[in-house]
Amino acid sequence: MQKVRKAVFPVAGLGTRFLPATKAMPKEMLPVVDRPLIQYAVDEAREAGIEQMIFVTGRGKSAIEDHFDIAFELERTMSDRGKDLSVLEPTRLGPGNCAYVRQQEPLGLGHAIWCARDIIGDEPFAIFLPDEFMVGKPGCMKQMMDAYNQVGGNLISVLEVPHDKVSSYGVIAPGKAQGNITQVMGLVEKPKVEDAPSNLIISGRYILQPDVMRVLEAQEKGAGGEIQLTDAMAQMIGKQPFHAVTFDGDRYDCGDKAGFITANIALALARPDIGPSVKAWLKTINLD
Ligand code: UTP
Repeated sequence: MQKVRKAVFPVAGLGTRFLPATKAMPKEMLPVVDRPLIQYAVDEAREAGIEQMIFVTGRGKSAIEDHFDIAFELERTMSDRGKDLSVLEPTRLGPGNCAYVRQQEPLGLGHAIWCARDIIGDEPFAIFLPDEFMVGKPGCMKQMMDAYNQVGGNLISVLEVPHDKVSSYGVIAPGKAQGNITQVMGLVEKPKVEDAPSNLIISGRYILQPDVMRVLEAQEKGAGGEIQLTDAMAQMIGKQPFHAVTFDGDRYDCGDKAGFITANIALALARPDIGPSVKAWLKTINLD
């Protein structure tokens, strides 16, 4: 079984749900407490053993490249003033550990992944949607990597939602299950509630075989006039092993305002430095 060494971070979306905050700043740079969303995703990838981070960017996304670069003036000034630089340690991605490709038009998630085809080459690879913020111990991708080492092939992370919420997501048709690993028999993007094959939704983490790039190459536009990754993956079912891994942890949809605020409150409360004061303030609110 080939090791998964590379991960794609599609970050070329327009982030319209967060306007005007995302007019000049990428959605992926929005912070949960004091770390941008993209940093959490890169940390999760490192924990899972990923060596190369591939960012699919677009216009107005250069803050992401700056974030993972050396900030010479900042670091020099901080060290002259005797300040601790260790907080910047996770932001350093050396030239061998990262690559940037440009998606010139936001034609959909499937198209964004396809833009990374030359860097992926003929290897299995991981995908992270950074606005799906996954908090687990170990992290979501590490949980998936453990499953990959058992079953190989293609894997997607799933979690259960109330049945009436399925229409906003990609949904799986489940087959046999063993532990946290479920066979995937079919996939549908944003189904009507009555047509949904389950309430197990795809949740922003994938391990895919490189063959998906050839499927994407020939892919027509799907839901919303975009090239959908879900449609390409659906075509691989039956031809290659395809499993879902039920994520053991918490997921916050940070592409959505309510999910983003919830993530900030949850993580703030869990922090020993600011948790007690946030909790004390929350207790003073009359929630009725
Ligand atoms: P979203 O569906 O959240 O779209 O994309 P979006 O454009 O970022 O946000 P809204 O809906 O306008 O608020 C899911 C992921 O796929 C990436 C996004 O950056 C995000 O990480 N994406 C989406 C691309 O890289 N390119 C695309 O063409 C579309």
